[in-house]
Amino acid sequence: MIELNQVSKRFETASGKSIDALLPTDLTIPSGQVFGLLGFSGAGKSTLLRLINRLEEPSGGSVRIDGQELVGLSDGALRQARQRVGMIFQQFNLLSHRSALHNVEFSLEVAGVARDERRSLAREALAAVRLSDREDAYPAQLSGGQRQRVAIARALATSPTILLCDEATSALDPHTALSILRLLQQLNRERGMTIVIVTHDIKVASYLCQHCVVLERGRVVDRIDMANPQPQSLLGKFFFETAKGWTEQTVLPQEEP
Ligand SMILES: Nc1ncnc2c1ncn2[C@@H]1O[C@H](COP(=O)(O)OP(=O)(O)OP(=O)(O)O)[C@@H](O)[C@H]1O
Ligand SMILES: [Mg+2]
Repeated sequence: MIELNQVSKRFETASGKSIDALLPTDLTIPSGQVFGLLGFSGAGKSTLLRLINRLEEPSGGSVRIDGQELVGLSDGALRQARQRVGMIFQQFNLLSHRSALHNVEFSLEVAGVARDERRSLAREALAAVRLSDREDAYPAQLSGGQRQRVAIARALATSPTILLCDEATSALDPHTALSILRLLQQLNRERGMTIVIVTHDIKVASYLCQHCVVLERGRVVDRIDMANPQPQSLLGKFFFETAKGWTEQTVLPQEEP
């Protein structure tokens, strides 16, 4: 379970201006859920996501994962805690001079896993994303969808219980995006992984999430049960109005036979 209590983030710019990227926010994300952070550009979605694994240092409040407070942890303890949290990004963030296998091994290196164990865990993770046959390929030799699958394998290698996804399918065509969404869904269903996804795309949220919050200018303006969406805010209503009549069949392209 992820618990944010009055978590906030204020950035100070070089010109002395301050930006409240996230106003004090309470949020509980139960284990095993796919949870969405929905909103337009600049709403604070990435900031909120990055506060969950403390890639961003909160300006106030507390962040607890399975009861453990992350704020104030020493570097070593934080590194340990982060092993339970994988992350993937819109632009994949792979190391271009390393093969797929070595990209995945890298996260295990950082986690301090012994050399012989690294290789077998990395191979296992690549198999889970169905890329065993491309382990020697460099990122430039892979398609966007394959790169994202390497990134997912890298995130999975340390066996995290939580996966954070920041616009993970935004750089992909709809067909490839769907194959990644299906993979995420499979990880949630088969491994019980908690998945938190940032998206501005109601289709992605509708397809994948059990609950989501709508963010606007650093505030949670709606909390939505996707099984029975009843948005209260203007922005939430807008999102769900545009989603009316959509089903997986009408919204998302079918997978190739
Ligand atoms: N390192 C930073 N320094 C200063 N301001 C920042 C920094 N990171 C984010 N911000 C500001 O915080 C606000 C929220 O940004 P954030 O990246 O969380 O939005 P977002 O919802 O993820 O947007 P997008 O959909 O465009 O990715 C924005 O006004 C942004 O300019
Ligand atoms: Mg963002």
